Formats: sequence, C-alpha cells, structure tokens
Amino acid sequence: MIVRNPDALDFSYVPQRLRFRDTQIDTIRKVMLEPLRSGISANLVAFGDSGTGKTSTMKYLAREEKSFTIAYENALSFTNLRALLLDVMYRVGKVSAARNLSYSDIFRFLNRAIDKSGKNMVVIIDEATNLIKFERDGLYNLLRAREIYSTPVSTILVSMEDPSIYMTERDRKSLGVFSSILFNRYSEEELTTIIEERARLALVQGSVDSDVKRYIGHVAQPFGSARVAIELLQKSAYVCEYRNGTELSIEDVRAAQSMINPYVTESKLNELDPLDLAVLLSICHCLVDEPSTSMSCVLDGMRVISEQYGIPVRENTAIYRAVKRLENLGIVEGRVIGRGDRQGVSKLIGINDIPISVLQEKVEALIRRN
Ligand SMILES: Nc1ncnc2c1ncn2[C@@H]1O[C@H](COP(=O)(O)OP(=O)(O)O)[C@@H](O)[C@H]1O
Ligand SMILES: [Mg+2]
Repeated sequence: MIVRNPDALDFSYVPQRLRFRDTQIDTIRKVMLEPLRSGISANLVAFGDSGTGKTSTMKYLAREEKSFTIAYENALSFTNLRALLLDVMYRVGKVSAARNLSYSDIFRFLNRAIDKSGKNMVVIIDEATNLIKFERDGLYNLLRAREIYSTPVSTILVSMEDPSIYMTERDRKSLGVFSSILFNRYSEEELTTIIEERARLALVQGSVDSDVKRYIGHVAQPFGSARVAIELLQKSAYVCEYRNGTELSIEDVRAAQSMINPYVTESKLNELDPLDLAVLLSICHCLVDEPSTSMSCVLDGMRVISEQYGIPVRENTAIYRAVKRLENLGIVEGRVIGRGDRQGVSKLIGINDIPISVLQEKVEALIRRN
C-alpha cells in the first residue's frame, strides 16, 4: 500500500494552497473583488489550456473569500443560462421558482438576497465557451445586471480559449468591456513542485524518490498541465501497488504514461528496419532504471548487440541517423543539454511512453523474426 489518501489524487481535489497562481488570484482580487466591496461590478474572463488550474483557482476563491457570496457553477450542467441562474437562486435561498422566470424576475430576487445577506455577489461560470458563443442575449443581461437591474453582481467566465477571438468589436462593446486573465501552462519545475506537494499529501512517506517526481514533471511538461502530472502520479502509484512495490519507479511512470497516452504502437515498431531495431534495443538496455541516457552508452551497447544478433557493425554516423529516425517517429525523446561552463553540449536520450521492459521484449521478438 503506498496510496494513503486517494482523495488528494482526484481531479476534483482543491489543495489548501494553490501554487504559481498568485498573479491570477491577485489580479482577480484587484480588478474585481476590491471594487465590488463598494458595489462596483466588473466582469472578467479566465482562460487557458486544460490543467492550468482554472477550476481549482475558482473553487479556491469561492472557499477563501468569505465577504462575498460566490456562486460557482459549471455551464455544462445546464441547458441554458437561465437554468444556471435558477440554480444560483436556489443557492442563495430560493425554495421554489417557476421555470419561466424573466431575467428581471431573476435579478430582482438576487437583489433581495444580496440586501438580506449584506454581501455582494460573484457568479463564476466554468466551462463557459458555448455560453459565450451562443447566448449573447442572456450574457448581456448578466454582465450588465448592475446597470439594468441595479444588482451588484460580478461575473467570471471561465473558458479554454480567449473569447475575444470569436467576438466582434460590437459584441465586446455591447457586453461591456471586460478584462481577461491568462492561465499559462506550467513549466517543468512548477509541475515537479506540484507533484512533490501532492505526493506528500497522498502517498506514504518515502514511497517516491525525488528523481521520480522530477521525471513526472518532465513527462507532463509538453502539456504544461497539472492534470496530466497528477494523473501520472496517481496511475503510477496504482501500477506500483499492483506489482506489490513499495517505491514508485521510473518504469511505473512509463507504464502510467502508456495507459494515458498509448503512443508507441506495434504498427510504429513494424516500420523499423534492422538497424533501427538494434539501436532501439541498445537504448532500452541503457535506460533500465534510468530516466535518460547518453549516446556513448548507446554506441557501446551496439557493439554487444551486433555480436549477439549477428548484425553487421556500423559506423557511428549511421547509428546517430537511426537515433534521429526513432526521434522523428516519436518513439525516442532526444534532448540537447549544455554540459556547463564551455563544456559544449551533449545529447540525452529517453523513452517515456512505454515501460522499457515491455518495449525490450517487443523489439527482441522483431529482431529475431527478421
Ligand atoms: N497550482 C496548482 N497547485 C496544485 N495543484 C494544482 C494547481 N493547478 C492545478 N492543480 C491540480 O491539477 C488538476 C487540474 O486542475 P484544474 O483546476 O481542474 O485545471 P483546469 O480547470 O484549468 O483544467 C486538479 O487536480 C488540481 O488540483
Ligand atoms: Mg476546469
């Protein structure tokens, strides 16, 4: 058993502390919450790729900002904006409501609720892309509620894309000018830190080495997504439990990645010629228990493999070209890194999408068949 708190690995988990989102949270406080204290409403859009912490940040604000009434809603749970606003009404105390209320009825009710509680209101609408595209009329009522109905409500719309790309100047004017906040992708270091914190919360102490946490950050980096990183941590923990391990290994992470994103396929391997296969096998040998390896290990390994399988010995340039082909096919990851102070550069080679033990077996079978 290495998972001690499975909840902390769930997508819906909102950590006590959200790292690397200070800029976004500060901006929301400054441009929206502060003015709203004095009844000045301001609307904004939060946008960014999947897994960049949009939903968590919104739920975090709803949890922390006690001096406002914050209603968090997901637009995908409702057929239209009116149905969503009905749900907001239930949250602030409506017991029953006719289905065919007008916007004016809805905002009049919200006005009374705001008066009664003495707290101004923020409506957060997550996954709002379709609503922004297709419900201009309703949005107009919500975003201008202050002017039209004297309702001190501010709205945050959350979406993957910047909505200004599908809005004309006229749309923007009619909806009122609003600021937008980008949720940028996380860097490799940021993802690694998020994984460190999550592992501390969710897993038995000492069950994940820092190399493995860094490796997860590395594999998730192309997506910039904390969701991908945490899913890798979760799946590799279960892979590790399944093999009765007590410590997560690099191989467990590769297995998790191959479950999430089955990228190295039989058909890709079938395209390889005998030299590519031999080079791939040499890379596999070098990567057992290692996150990455160097060309010199691969070249050394080639001598042994050539002898073992009776493959003609090839000059180094041919081997370099084979590595390049494997990279282009996406089976192998190549990274050029500086070796520090004027030492030049060297190439690091890794395989992240499949366990080495599984790949090695497949490659050996293909070599024998040739
Ligand atoms: N800054 C962060 N610190 C810790 N965990 C985070 C952070 N950002 C996102 N996460 C975690 O990543 C997962 C996906 O985040 P989420 O907020 O749902 O992203 P989005 O809504 O942008 O797709 C959640 O499990 C969340 O807890
Ligand atoms: Mg989300």
